[in-house]
Amino acid sequence: MQISTKFSEIEESGCIAIMPTRMIPNMHDDVRESLLNQPRSLSPKYFYDERGSELFDQICSTPEYYPTRTENALLEKYATDIINKTKPEQILELGSGYSVKTRRLFDACQNISHNCSYAPFDVCEEALVESAKKLAKEYQWLNLKPLLGDYNAGLGNLPAANGSHLYVFLGSTIGNFERHEATAFIQELYKVMRVGDHFLIGVDRVKENDVLHAAYNDAQGITAEFNLNVLHVLNRELHANFDIDEFTHSATFNTDEERIEMRLISNSAQKVQLNKLNESIHFEEGEHIVTEISQKYTHSGIEEMLTAANFSITYHYEDEDSYFSLVLASK
Ligand code: AVJ
Repeated sequence: MQISTKFSEIEESGCIAIMPTRMIPNMHDDVRESLLNQPRSLSPKYFYDERGSELFDQICSTPEYYPTRTENALLEKYATDIINKTKPEQILELGSGYSVKTRRLFDACQNISHNCSYAPFDVCEEALVESAKKLAKEYQWLNLKPLLGDYNAGLGNLPAANGSHLYVFLGSTIGNFERHEATAFIQELYKVMRVGDHFLIGVDRVKENDVLHAAYNDAQGITAEFNLNVLHVLNRELHANFDIDEFTHSATFNTDEERIEMRLISNSAQKVQLNKLNESIHFEEGEHIVTEISQKYTHSGIEEMLTAANFSITYHYEDEDSYFSLVLASK
């Protein structure tokens, strides 16, 4: 693989640092913009400090949160079909985290004796390094090329590699984008892909309100804790003084927009200090902060999004209940 030094450099950890193609606002500017103005919101990326990542993992194994296990079951069932249809020379995963579900694809490669390389792309260097170590042991034939960077900062600087690619974007992470942003992101990916490359995307589906509601309001209260944890993040990073007990978790399905909306609702009229920003916020009782949207898609909605970006649908996998889609598309 040729690495242009202009667009990437090799870190001490062995990861290739991918330079952003556009500016991502820092936390101070971002929070100032989104939290101090109405409607108040926070980017869901601030959920994921160490505690937040731990809580997200716990959400994934609650009985109510069906997306993770449904997607994993789909991968287990169809990975061999996917690898047979794509025979990638490289699997490049956007937001790879600890590459847990992706292993189903490596297992499938192993089953049909197909060797390839794997380029996990993530903002968390520790996750990249730790999982690369494990993967190297478990799949000795797998050629690892960890890429360190933020896919939100653009895909234009991904290293050019020869051979066919399978781009992977799992976990319905696409749901955190507004619809128009999701389309723009998929178009951006399409541009960096070459003819013959494939794209595998996991997308959560529109379904009965009670199933969706339960998934974001688990009985153990883990999602509530996950949502509230973002206030701890602000307290730490911005020297703020949010009283966590003075806010309540809320997650509701907006049937018009077909999305879950997570909020933190102020229990009382209160003033919060953001010392590092030299600002304070007055919250009315019942006033809220939108902390996350989780867009759900219909079967045809997913295909429309992909075809609008010029993709051809190779195969649309789904579970018996049509709770989750795994769509294989190609350029
Ligand atoms: C990681 C964005 C896919 O939207 O379901 C889970 C995050 N938030 N429970 C989702 C989340 C609350 C999750 N995504």
